[in-house]
Amino acid sequence: MKTEIYFSSSFVILLVTFSFALSQTIQCYDCDPVDEGEKCGDPATSVPKLLNCNKEFGPPESNSTYICLSAYIKYSSNDTLTGVYRGCKSQKSDVESYCDFFKEEIDGPNATVISCTTCTDSLCNNQTFSLSGNLNDAVSLQYVVFPLVLSLVFLLVA
Ligand SMILES: *[C@@H]1O[C@H](CO)[C@@H](O)[C@H](O)[C@H]1NC(C)=O
Ligand SMILES: *[C@@H]1O[C@H](CO)[C@@H](O)[C@H](O)[C@H]1NC(C)=O
Ligand SMILES: *[C@@H]1O[C@H](CO)[C@@H](O)[C@H](O)[C@H]1NC(C)=O
Ligand SMILES: *[C@@H]1O[C@H](CO)[C@@H](O)[C@H](O)[C@H]1NC(C)=O
Repeated sequence: MKTEIYFSSSFVILLVTFSFALSQTIQCYDCDPVDEGEKCGDPATSVPKLLNCNKEFGPPESNSTYICLSAYIKYSSNDTLTGVYRGCKSQKSDVESYCDFFKEEIDGPNATVISCTTCTDSLCNNQTFSLSGNLNDAVSLQYVVFPLVLSLVFLLVA
């Protein structure tokens, strides 16, 4: 009985430790027009490389957390660089919007960040972009279309 309790409690401790360690790591899709460009457009259709940010870059710096980024960058000087960029980024706690920071870093005479979004869950950087580089708003569309259909059904029934 005693050993049973010992084993089960150490198992719980192991489990808690393990899930804590897991919760501290984040995976992001990692691709750009040059590296896996053909897979970068829509991870739901063709899966690009996955990167474990913590494994790849080590533990985050103090006051920083890893986030996943999706962005569309237009390079007027070189068309092959224009397109979707996905990857791990390290966001300092005093940076309110990583995308604002990113735009400041990238924007220049030859480069423009057309759109950008970040998120904090593993493999969350799966957003898609229009041909002109704007974020597709598939999720909000889903929230618009479904209630619309539902209210139509109710109207028809009534
Ligand atoms: C982290 O943030 C705290 C509070 O904002 C600050 O006092 C500390 O110097 C920061 N540490 C680093 C390494 O930036
Ligand atoms: C922008 O492109 C021009 C022409 O290709 C090049 O000469 C210049 O060095 C580029 N500037 C930057 C900041 O990359
Ligand atoms: C454009 O970028 C690609 C990828 O970095 C490079 O291989 C190519 O030489 C560049 N072309 C020009 C004209 O700079
Ligand atoms: C993107 O990933 C989230 C979870 O990370 C998932 O809920 C969502 O369905 C995915 N979207 C697409 C278009 O695959």
